[in-house]
Amino acid sequence: MSRIAYVNGRYLPHRSAAVHVEDRGFQFADGVYEVIAIANGRFIDEELHLRRLHRSLAALRMAPPMGDRALCAILREVVRLNGVAEGIVYLQVTRGSAPREFAFPTRARPSLVVTARSKTLHDPRLLAQGVRVITIPDIRWARPDIKSVALLPNALGKQQAKEAGAFEAWQVGRDGNITEGTSSNAWIVTAAGEAVTRQADTAILNGVTRQGLLHVLAAAGLRFLERPFAVAEAKAAREAFLTSASNFLIPVVRIDEAVIGDGKPGPVTERLSDAYISYAAGGGADR
Ligand code: PDD
Repeated sequence: MSRIAYVNGRYLPHRSAAVHVEDRGFQFADGVYEVIAIANGRFIDEELHLRRLHRSLAALRMAPPMGDRALCAILREVVRLNGVAEGIVYLQVTRGSAPREFAFPTRARPSLVVTARSKTLHDPRLLAQGVRVITIPDIRWARPDIKSVALLPNALGKQQAKEAGAFEAWQVGRDGNITEGTSSNAWIVTAAGEAVTRQADTAILNGVTRQGLLHVLAAAGLRFLERPFAVAEAKAAREAFLTSASNFLIPVVRIDEAVIGDGKPGPVTERLSDAYISYAAGGGADR
């Protein structure tokens, strides 16, 4: 099946789908995006993604390209045209295209791009073996809570991880606490068996998978805390894992040179992964 993308009102073959050279997303990273997981043909936590999209748009004083109903219809059509039953749909909104001026254009219309692709969301090999992460300084701007397309530090960090033979890089703030991964949220499990992830302040993106997992933890009566944790605490943790829409939960078995637990995915992570998979199979919290 050939891939189809949506670009500003048209469904186009992937190879000819393009935006204008003066699109502000291209010139200034003046845009926001969402990545929504699809499992068994259903969107997972679509409502939470839309809420976060509106939050990001409002933070950048950017108008939505259209109403939510119309937007959701386009997302569904792109998923259908690409035959995606399990995978991700990507949507990007920019402030539009206009002559290159730093201040906002007065007349530009927001531009909307949507793509979708099939992908395994819970890779059994990653789940069985776990992955390595490295730690790197968090060099991003002060508002990573906005899901903007300005992802250069994230791309540099992921490349550094790849070159080190790791799956992800956990970014460390000036205070020595881990903020989050380059494209995922970071979690540890304490000796007391509590799941810990950083509180959703302006230093991290409030992951929809993170929010879904917090819901799963609360519903199962499991103990969890939203608080900062330092690199040393993470390295000494009983278990560690990461979350994102494109991979659900992945166990972390090494942080830099430190082996986590016995070097294998731990029981709390496995239990939470199973619980999240069934939560996702039902479409998430809003179904
Ligand atoms: N990334 N933190 C960062 C910096 C991210 O880029 C992401 C998601 C997350 C996890 O958020 P969620 O659970 O909503 O996917 C945390 C997406 C998947 C991406 O850019 O491809």
